[in-house]
Amino acid sequence: MIYRTAKGITMPALGLGTFELTGDKGIASIRSAIEYGYRHIDTAIRYGNEAEVGQAIRESGVPRDELFVTTKIWFDSLAPATVHQRIGESLERLQMDYVDLLLIHWPGTEVPMRDTLGAFAEVRDAGQTRSVGVSNFTTVQLDEAINVHGAELVTNQVEYHPFLAQPKLLKATHDADMILTAYLPIARGAVFKEPVIQDIGARHGKSAAQVSLRWLLQQDGVAAIPRSSKIENIRSNFDIFDFELDDAEMAQIAGLDRQERMVDFDWSPEWDTL
Ligand SMILES: NC(=O)c1ccc[n+]([C@@H]2O[C@H](COP(=O)([O-])OP(=O)(O)OC[C@H]3O[C@@H](n4cnc5c(N)ncnc54)[C@H](OP(=O)(O)O)[C@@H]3O)[C@@H](O)[C@H]2O)c1
Repeated sequence: MIYRTAKGITMPALGLGTFELTGDKGIASIRSAIEYGYRHIDTAIRYGNEAEVGQAIRESGVPRDELFVTTKIWFDSLAPATVHQRIGESLERLQMDYVDLLLIHWPGTEVPMRDTLGAFAEVRDAGQTRSVGVSNFTTVQLDEAINVHGAELVTNQVEYHPFLAQPKLLKATHDADMILTAYLPIARGAVFKEPVIQDIGARHGKSAAQVSLRWLLQQDGVAAIPRSSKIENIRSNFDIFDFELDDAEMAQIAGLDRQERMVDFDWSPEWDTL
């Protein structure tokens, strides 16, 4: 495993995304991922599967302190009192005393950022989360957030894959001693249609998903959280620690950028461009 550390908090660089992993099938997928070696699990209140994540972790038998669990608070719940209520509810569903990382899922517009981040710091001080961070923040929003006294942000979780370069955000996260956690790290499967990635994979005996994940993890300060419902895909996405891309291959994949954003909503911020 490769690890990332920011603000004294260490996370496994490869985690399991759990969007849509719900019900008994979701529990089975998450449990089998943990049994295979995943130690970083990414959930969110919005995914409606915190209870499943908690159950899968308990059933896996892996001690809680060997796992890194992230959850996220939706942008309609960023008032301080609501933040305190939501984390309590999350921990109840997860049946845990703490999460490792609590994120603002999307930037809000109603509540001043310093109020929300102040509440996040209180949640951290109370031991309900070990660390805090943000998601879907642009460089402008990140700049505001890191200047909130005591914020100590560990990550910005954003869409990042070979078809969506993030040079500005990468620089901003590096400068702020933060980790960039890449969601949609295999572009929801689109990497399988890309001949350049396929060819590189063929050279290494690896799939397009494995090449994309390796490409992300070979970049400083980048983590990735692929999701799959299929046990064979969950396993193969984890089998990326026995090969290395060379500089030419890293550059070839970086050259595939076409600023293709797959997650964009009417509540999205004004995204950074190149
Ligand atoms: N913070 C945010 O706003 C935000 C937004 C989006 C996502 N996320 C997080 O990021 C995680 C990952 O994003 P995502 O799930 O949307 O996209 P993703 O991980 O890029 O792609 C998931 C899709 O790829 C397929 N897949 C996965 N591994 C495969 C493999 N080895 N071979 C073939 N197909 C494969 C899956 O299908 P199968 O199930 O059939 O394998 C699934 O349809 C989410 O689960 C969530 O935790 C966060």
